[in-house]
Amino acid sequence: MTYTVYLRPSNQHFYVEPQEPLLTAALKQHLLLPYSCRGGSCGACKAKLLSGQIDYLIPPSYKSQLAKDEILLCLATAQTDLEIASTLTQSTQGITDTKKMPCRVEKLQKLSEDVMQLWLKIPEHEALHFQAGQYLDILLNDGRKRSFSIASTVADLPLIELHIRRVNDGCFTQQVFDSLKVKDILRIELPLGAFFLRQDTQLPILFVAGGTGFAPVKAMIQQALAENRQREMIFYWGVRHQQDLYMHDTITQWAKDYPFIHYVPVLSEPLAEDQWQGKTGLVHEVVLQDIPHLMDYVVYASGPPVMVATAHQHFIARGLPATQFYSDPFEFAKDKK
Ligand code: FES
Repeated sequence: MTYTVYLRPSNQHFYVEPQEPLLTAALKQHLLLPYSCRGGSCGACKAKLLSGQIDYLIPPSYKSQLAKDEILLCLATAQTDLEIASTLTQSTQGITDTKKMPCRVEKLQKLSEDVMQLWLKIPEHEALHFQAGQYLDILLNDGRKRSFSIASTVADLPLIELHIRRVNDGCFTQQVFDSLKVKDILRIELPLGAFFLRQDTQLPILFVAGGTGFAPVKAMIQQALAENRQREMIFYWGVRHQQDLYMHDTITQWAKDYPFIHYVPVLSEPLAEDQWQGKTGLVHEVVLQDIPHLMDYVVYASGPPVMVATAHQHFIARGLPATQFYSDPFEFAKDKK
């Protein structure tokens, strides 16, 4: 039995099989709903259930943070026809057409003590489209996946750049730092996610990133520059210590070269040897201090879920319309060794 899912307010609909996650069905039918982790932990795919009944494939860890009428599309399955309120993104060429492919490690370069820049090369014959800001999954041999934002743009294809932070007890990230080498073969799935620049407004852009949440921001800024877009862009980058600003010089140079790019690095725990003269504190708090009229911006937030959720909560309370907040919360996946 196939169920029909009606989306509001767009009045689009899609069909879903029993036991098929709603998000999977929507993406297959080229309807781009917001999502990130696809595993029930980040909350990015949250939607309001207006009518009908759902069940979950597995209990989502984010469930306790949902209101009574909210569901997570990545794990919810239909028990009846459904009516759902969720923001539907105008789909752009190819970005819901996910592909799996092998790729070769082209280059590894340490950007800081615990961030590795990893360049992958996809097969030359692969015709791939993605939007700057989307992410990919690395498919591990045991069936698990590790998600990383793409830090490069389609102009760099067949090369793809990732920024990988070393995670204690994260077997894959340790492999990246300790044993992965040039010419090794990995399997990837891409493009994934709905985090990319919307062009339906000319409001200035406010990027807020934590740590390697800079990766999709880098891609989006480079894409905007390549397309000669001159929208005002303000980038707040929150990290702990100065050495964590692993591409500080690149961004500083962008801000010098392009008058519409502004860069504000923020350290939450500056070290004495940093002799830091810049902003300190939590990045969302610094944004709130600096920008009284958030409603005049479109916000793109990327980083650990707690940072993204806190920024969302405070920015909305300050008057930012929910439709002007896009996010890419990501978990640093830990493995059992
Ligand atoms: S909780 Fe559904 S995409 Fe993260």
